[in-house]
Amino acid sequence: MSKERLDKIIASSGLMTRSEVKTLIKKGLVKVNNSTVKDASLKCDCETDDIIVDGKTLRKGKYIYIMLNKPKGVVSATNDNKDLTVVDILPDSLKRKNLFPAGRLDKDTTGFCLITDDGDFAHDILAPAHHVSKTYIAELDRDIDFEKGRQAFKKGVVLADGTVLLSADLVKIENNDIPTYKVVINEGKYHQVKRMFASLGSTVIELKRIKIGELLLDEKLKAGEARLLTQEELSKITQRPHNMV
Ligand code: URA
Repeated sequence: MSKERLDKIIASSGLMTRSEVKTLIKKGLVKVNNSTVKDASLKCDCETDDIIVDGKTLRKGKYIYIMLNKPKGVVSATNDNKDLTVVDILPDSLKRKNLFPAGRLDKDTTGFCLITDDGDFAHDILAPAHHVSKTYIAELDRDIDFEKGRQAFKKGVVLADGTVLLSADLVKIENNDIPTYKVVINEGKYHQVKRMFASLGSTVIELKRIKIGELLLDEKLKAGEARLLTQEELSKITQRPHNMV
C-alpha cells in the first residue's frame, strides 16, 4: 500500500473531519508507532503503521469494516435494479471494491449495518454457532402479554412455517406511548423479528438494529452516515456479554 498523509488517512476513517484531525495533531493527541506526531502531512501506511487518535487505535490491515446507520428505503445488498443499496450510499472516502453488508436488514429497518470486504469475518459473525447477538428496538401496533412473550422468546419461537428459532431475550421499554421492546436474537432468519412478534399477534411498525455483539450503534451517526470501526470496536462485535461464558 502506498503512503498517504496522516490527516487524510485519519479523516477518511470517517471518525472526524480533516480540520478536527489537525486540531488533535496540534494538541499532541495522535501517535504513530508509539511516537506523538505534530506534522499532519507525515506520510504513513495505513496497513502497517500503528495509528492512535485520541486513544482510539485505527484498524490496520487488508480489509475494512464500516458502521452505517442505515436509513429507511435503502436495501441491504451490493447492487439492486430499483433501489439504492447500503453500498451505494457510502461516502466516496469509504467506497472500495468488494464491499458487502454482513447480514441483511429489511428495506424499512433502520440502524446498525456492518459493511465489509472481509468474507471470512462476515461468515464467522453470521454463523449461528458463533453466537454473535443482534439487538433491535421494535415498536408494535398493539401490545403483547410481556411475560408470555418473554417466555416464548426464551424457549425458542416456532414460526408459522415450522422453523424453530434459537432462544432470544425480550425486554419491555417503559414510558412509551407506542408499545416498544428490546429484542436480542442470536441468528438472522428472514424477517425474523417481525415474524417473532407476529407469532404473538402483533405487527412491528418500526424496527431499528442498535447493537451487534457488544458493539452499540454510534449515536453520533445520523441516518445515512457511516464511518470505519476502530480496532477496539471491531473486537466488541465478537465479544460475549459479561454474564455469558
Ligand atoms: N428482523 C426483521 O424482521 N427484519 C430485519 O430487518 C432484521 C431482523
